Amino acid sequence: MEQFLQRIAGIWQPHVGQREFLLAHAKTRALACGRRWGKTEACAVDVLHRILRSPPSRQLMVAPTLEQAKILFRRVCRLLDDYQRKVTKDITKYRPKNTPFPVLEFEGHVVTARSGHAPDSLRGDEADHVIVDEAAFVPEALVTEVLTPMLSTTDGYLTCISTPNGFNWFWRLFDRGERGEDGIWSRRSPSSENPRVSRHFLAAKKNESSPRSFEVEYEAVFREAAGAVFTQESIDDARCYEWPSSFSGPFTIGVDWAKTKDFTAVAIVSGTRDECWLVGLARFHGPHFQDICAQVVEVIRRYPGARIFQDSTGLGVIAAELLRSQLPRFSITDITFTSGGKEEMVCALARLLGNKLLRMQPNPVLERELASYVSSETSAGNIRYGAKGSEHDDLVTAVMLAARHLPSRLSGCIRLAPKIQFSYA
Ligand SMILES: Nc1ncnc2c1ncn2[C@@H]1O[C@H](COP(=O)(O)OP(=O)(O)O)[C@@H](O)[C@H]1O
Ligand SMILES: [Mg+2]
Repeated sequence: MEQFLQRIAGIWQPHVGQREFLLAHAKTRALACGRRWGKTEACAVDVLHRILRSPPSRQLMVAPTLEQAKILFRRVCRLLDDYQRKVTKDITKYRPKNTPFPVLEFEGHVVTARSGHAPDSLRGDEADHVIVDEAAFVPEALVTEVLTPMLSTTDGYLTCISTPNGFNWFWRLFDRGERGEDGIWSRRSPSSENPRVSRHFLAAKKNESSPRSFEVEYEAVFREAAGAVFTQESIDDARCYEWPSSFSGPFTIGVDWAKTKDFTAVAIVSGTRDECWLVGLARFHGPHFQDICAQVVEVIRRYPGARIFQDSTGLGVIAAELLRSQLPRFSITDITFTSGGKEEMVCALARLLGNKLLRMQPNPVLERELASYVSSETSAGNIRYGAKGSEHDDLVTAVMLAARHLPSRLSGCIRLAPKIQFSYA
């Protein structure tokens, strides 16, 4: 690798942490770093290194979504282009394919990018190297049941890179490396180790984030929120990778209207209290209530027959009226948040998650909100629920509004709506 780094010095040079990562020989590597540290970049160079030497290898890139996996894939292609233009012309022509998923075939090597969404379609393949980007956001089962077996017959390499996401399997893997377990290398490092990340950028992020969120996202500190209402385990368990292609309802929609500077959030849940799916989630931000309301209306219209529960506390009351006037055919109920009412909502969602009754697609933004949703005691001795520090909880609130008002199995049966394609806005 050292020689390879010298060879490509004209097109790419690692920072200190990236060099250490690239030189690590362990079969399993867990890299926990802040955003913009250069994790994806370093992995792309690692993949490039393997495809420029023999023997032919099969490398698989996986991420919570195909879009994320494609970022790494594109970086490899870009580096290979640069290599051909600036280092040597003496390599075979190659043309990456993009459908049904990205594949790069080059001098006997095969590089594939896949989403962690459909583990079954990955099952059975073999690989010499598997890279999991944003690893802390894929379920443990994907790694243990699908990816690790792929490497068992080839005695291959596993690389997991991510920002921390609570004390889940990624932390446990990282911790095994920290404790010196044979064959596992791990490293944790803040975004500031990348000299291309300016102090100014980090200062601005520190200013606008809560201390916890800055610690997690830019200093790569593993944290579970104190007083967390939803355990990381229950959030991990809710992630669903075998997603039905359509849903027949009944649909229950929660709308949390923005107060001052936060987002308006809409959550669509299909199913009943015994089994349900978060089939749609959107959030909107902007200066004009009318525009936001129009976007909310557009989302809701995709779910004919849905029952809507909207927060009409404080300023929300104006938006709530506007929505009602624009959706006269929908059943809309206004909810005013009282402390008791909020507790019921929190409990409804905690019950669904704790009993593995709600499924959702991987969604780092919602998962972070869930993980930092806490209960705390006010000075008057009351329990307050909400996001820790200055973090957002709009998505969680919208999901809770829907979760609290899901029909029971019986009443659900009579509200079947037409089949709707799934969408995450
Ligand atoms: N060694 C490097 N040389 C040039 N640019 C780099 C290097 N490492 C990272 N970068 C740049 O820094 C930014 C963040 O890198 P990225 O790999 O996307 O970070 P992460 O995956 O950790 O969020 C990108 O614009 C990337 O191109
Ligand atoms: Mg990245």
